[in-house]
Amino acid sequence: MIGRAVTVPERFNPLETKYPIWNAGMGGGLAGPELVASVSESGCFGVLGTGGLASESVGQLIKETRQLTSRPFGANVILPMSDGQDVAICFDEGVEVLVLFWGDPQPFIKDAHKRGISLVIQCGNVEEAVYAASCGADAIIIQGTEAGGHVKGELELQSYISEIQHELRDTPLIAAGGIDSGEKIANLIKQGVQAVSLGTRFVASTEARATTSYKEKIVSSSAGDTVLTKLYDMGWKNAKHRVIKTPLYENWHQNGCLKAGDRTDEGETIGRIELGSNRTMSVPKYSVFPPVSSFNGNENELPFYAGKSVDGIHKIEGTRTIVETLVRETRSHFERYK
Ligand SMILES: Cc1cc2nc3c(=O)[nH]c(=O)nc-3n(C[C@H](O)[C@H](O)[C@H](O)COP(=O)(O)O)c2cc1C
Repeated sequence: MIGRAVTVPERFNPLETKYPIWNAGMGGGLAGPELVASVSESGCFGVLGTGGLASESVGQLIKETRQLTSRPFGANVILPMSDGQDVAICFDEGVEVLVLFWGDPQPFIKDAHKRGISLVIQCGNVEEAVYAASCGADAIIIQGTEAGGHVKGELELQSYISEIQHELRDTPLIAAGGIDSGEKIANLIKQGVQAVSLGTRFVASTEARATTSYKEKIVSSSAGDTVLTKLYDMGWKNAKHRVIKTPLYENWHQNGCLKAGDRTDEGETIGRIELGSNRTMSVPKYSVFPPVSSFNGNENELPFYAGKSVDGIHKIEGTRTIVETLVRETRSHFERYK
């Protein structure tokens, strides 16, 4: 039989948005429909944070976002927390971009491309990035150790840039970790980075589905108040994350960083998260879940994920204002140093 022509749908290129700024897809629905729609509507690229959620919740978040914007957006999946159903829902719902973190992208590339979905992989070192690119990733996010949340990065962001650019050749590069100003964005773009992905800056936005006290903590903290640890591991073991130090962290640290199984009150439930449609999820002490706005319970025992970027965050603001400020700062930096 003579081969039939297969029509491959054209993929949306998320690097062609008006501004080269993405919100990181922060898990547990923290980067929820309001934030994502608002980021995409502001001329940037919004990414839903589906990490740790069941596939029904992921489908619901995608539908809610489509109701708020007609602009393209993406969804982020954390592979070690995935049962595969979340990826399937993202494919079926046709998000424009799937961002994967912490795992092998190879099994997903063909299917994504067949459906016209771009695949972007957040990586923590040059080898991982080169491998993801060789699998056919449409772009690589390189994450530095300054980042908030789970940190795959092994070095500070700047240490990677020239080597990774050289190694990746034609695959676009997006930078993440500790980016808190237009000056940093301008410097990265001058070095050939095509976009930046910001997490912590967007937690402290009015639209993020984070509790008010979490947002306030980000505003009042400095980089020295954050730490890389593996303490909050219920739901995802042995993965480094950057959080703001809390009394729970300080006590654990002062008592010799007891390993999992030996810590105080392990297994205790500290609250519940509302997932919509009368579904709730109980949250154990040392959970990976951040203080999302639908959490009821002892919030101070949750991980307040934050990057060193807290240094440049002085206010809880609307996404549009955050984007306008970053764009203005980036432009003025370019003009000053032309
Ligand atoms: C609250 C929070 C949750 C995060 N959750 C995820 C996640 O679910 N998936 C992911 O790929 N990265 C996640 N990250 C990491 C981001 O992708 C990104 O690397 C980081 O936010 C960049 O550093 P910054 O916070 O200083 O901007 C998270 C970061 C934060 C602050």
